[in-house]
Amino acid sequence: MKLKDLPKDSLPRERFLAKGPDALSKSELLAIVLGSGIQGKNVQELAKQIIQKSGKNFLSITLDDLRKIAGVGHAKALQIVAAISLVKRFYQEGGSSSQTAFPFSRKEETFSQLQNRRYIGNKYKLADWIFSILEKECDGDSFTDIFAGTGVMAARAAARFKNVILNDFLHSNHAVYKAFFDKGDWDKEKINSTIQEYNRINGKDLPDSYFSRNFGGKYFSRSSARIIGFVRDDIEKRKSDLTEREYYVLITSLLYAIDKIANTVGHYDAYFKKTLVDDTFAMRSLLPIQVEDVEIYREDANILAKKIHTDVVYIDPPYNSRQYSRFYHLLETLTKWDKPKLYGAALKPIEENMSDYCRSTAKDKLAELVRDIDARFLVVSYNNTYASKSSSSLNKITHEEIERILSEKGKTKVFEKNYRHFNAGNTDFNNHKEFLFVTKTR
Ligand SMILES: C[S@@+](CC[C@H](N)C(=O)[O-])C[C@H]1O[C@@H](n2cnc3c(N)ncnc32)[C@H](O)[C@@H]1O
Repeated sequence: MKLKDLPKDSLPRERFLAKGPDALSKSELLAIVLGSGIQGKNVQELAKQIIQKSGKNFLSITLDDLRKIAGVGHAKALQIVAAISLVKRFYQEGGSSSQTAFPFSRKEETFSQLQNRRYIGNKYKLADWIFSILEKECDGDSFTDIFAGTGVMAARAAARFKNVILNDFLHSNHAVYKAFFDKGDWDKEKINSTIQEYNRINGKDLPDSYFSRNFGGKYFSRSSARIIGFVRDDIEKRKSDLTEREYYVLITSLLYAIDKIANTVGHYDAYFKKTLVDDTFAMRSLLPIQVEDVEIYREDANILAKKIHTDVVYIDPPYNSRQYSRFYHLLETLTKWDKPKLYGAALKPIEENMSDYCRSTAKDKLAELVRDIDARFLVVSYNNTYASKSSSSLNKITHEEIERILSEKGKTKVFEKNYRHFNAGNTDFNNHKEFLFVTKTR
């Protein structure tokens, strides 16, 4: 039936104007966003079909999911995903404490978003500032986040650049990128029901195993540690029935869940002797990042730098002697699941992925990376903890050394912002500044 044949008061726009948005069903609201139908299907029928097919996964629907629905072309798919992304952006920018910016109860959230984890040196709160500079100073189609950490900068770049490259040498970060950014197929219904199954497990019903024997009663309660170990074993058992994307979504969902109940300040260099956290194990599905074209690597940044071509490279290396692979060893162990022998009070495995950027070699490594990378713009983040009382917080490269290294490639502008970041207790934060160096290469 054509829309003009329907009585006027049953049309979505008219009902919206007469009764307001709350009176409309989800498919009627979607019909307004779509504006028009397609050959043989009016806009209401099309909207209804999309809502039915996406079910509860509407907010994480992708362009590919939509294009699989008969009659949904590129333009309509883009309209829907852009509308969802816009709402998500406002939600994200509302900040973690703001309930007023977007009035949804966080308790009812069923998805984890990329930035919902604790990670030293992550730039989530600095992203607006960094991108406001980047927008003015750089152009091009491709963006490389070569020390991507959480990936929050790459996620920001995904809204502006066609091609996004992410790299970090940690296994756990790589799993997170594969889950949130990759293009592979992912059956949302299947993953949700697996997650719900895991969330119903009671740790008291499970025997001890590798994870609970090592980490139970320390980084996690014994009961949660049993669940975590059981779930990770189960993901491995199911691997042959999962697509690569599904495998990484489940692992990432587990990594995000344990961050909420880990008995730590946010990393795994030590745990609290007394349990302080809410111990409710709850995995969630993920809100994927929409990106036109993505490449994901797990390589040493200096090796990758020799292989890629990019318009903008964002360089955010570690600033001091704290090794990320040691701070996040537990996430690495859980991701690789090779059940290594563990050592010391912090229960760390033998060393892997020790960064030269955390050593006195840092400035030579940065010089090598800057020399080797084929990029039109180099954007470097660094901060000024030069006066720290704690030797592990002391910066490895001086401001002048960074300027000198970058001057080999082109003209550099330096931007600065007062900012307070992770503090283990001994660092003097008076006059703490975050710097951004932007070099346009010759
Ligand atoms: C300061 S953090 C990056 C934070 C990131 N910009 C964010 O917003 O989450 C530095 C990252 O570099 C990674 N890393 C350190 N040395 C590396 C190397 N040689 N090659 C690749 N990644 C490295 C660490 O694992 C860490 O995640």
